Amino acid sequence: MKIISIALLVVLGCGLAVFAAPAPAEGQKGVVIVYASLYGSTAKTAEWIAEGMAGKAAVVSAAEAGDLGGYDKIVLGSGIYNNKLHADMAAFLEKQGALVKDKLIALFVVCGAPPDQAGPYLEMFAEKCRAKPLLARAFNGWMKKELLSAEDYKGLEAYYKGAGYPFENYDQTDKAKCLEFGKEILARLGEMK
Ligand SMILES: Cc1cc2nc3c(=O)[nH]c(=O)nc-3n(C[C@H](O)[C@H](O)[C@H](O)COP(=O)(O)O)c2cc1C
Repeated sequence: MKIISIALLVVLGCGLAVFAAPAPAEGQKGVVIVYASLYGSTAKTAEWIAEGMAGKAAVVSAAEAGDLGGYDKIVLGSGIYNNKLHADMAAFLEKQGALVKDKLIALFVVCGAPPDQAGPYLEMFAEKCRAKPLLARAFNGWMKKELLSAEDYKGLEAYYKGAGYPFENYDQTDKAKCLEFGKEILARLGEMK
């Protein structure tokens, strides 16, 4: 009985490990996109970037990323909140910093600021990775008031009022730009072979 229980634990443990960090598909270069998203637009951006990479990258949230040692390259993406990375991305970098330093190829942020003014976010992200990515890009996301926590709603409402902007839902995601970024990453990977 004890042996069966141990065997069951091992099988379940392996299953969970696979769930937490999907292994690279056979014959494909192992690339994983790790993202952290509060309200979904960074997750969607990560999905579209992977689509641009012709499905050659696994996509996993920073909170669920297990051991990523099996991947050759890592792409990181985070939403920006009060000028900071998502807490899950900060925690991921604390835990897996050494791996990221060796394998980081690209990073992206999703923010409300216009992408051409988001350079400081990308620099802060790269600094926290202690690595210089080959590619870095800022994207815009969405704000859906119905998704916001009470605290975030209050904070953003006050911010918009103070800045003299209407506090309205927006969706500035741009799938074509994300697909393009995915293609660029793929091209860089090809050059590295
Ligand atoms: C609480 C909060 C704080 C934010 N702070 C910033 C900020 O400091 N700078 C910025 O450019 N965008 C800021 N934004 C906008 C988000 O970065 C943007 O909505 C992004 O698309 C969120 O990604 P997500 O949908 O994956 O959570 C903030 C959004 C929220 C909800």
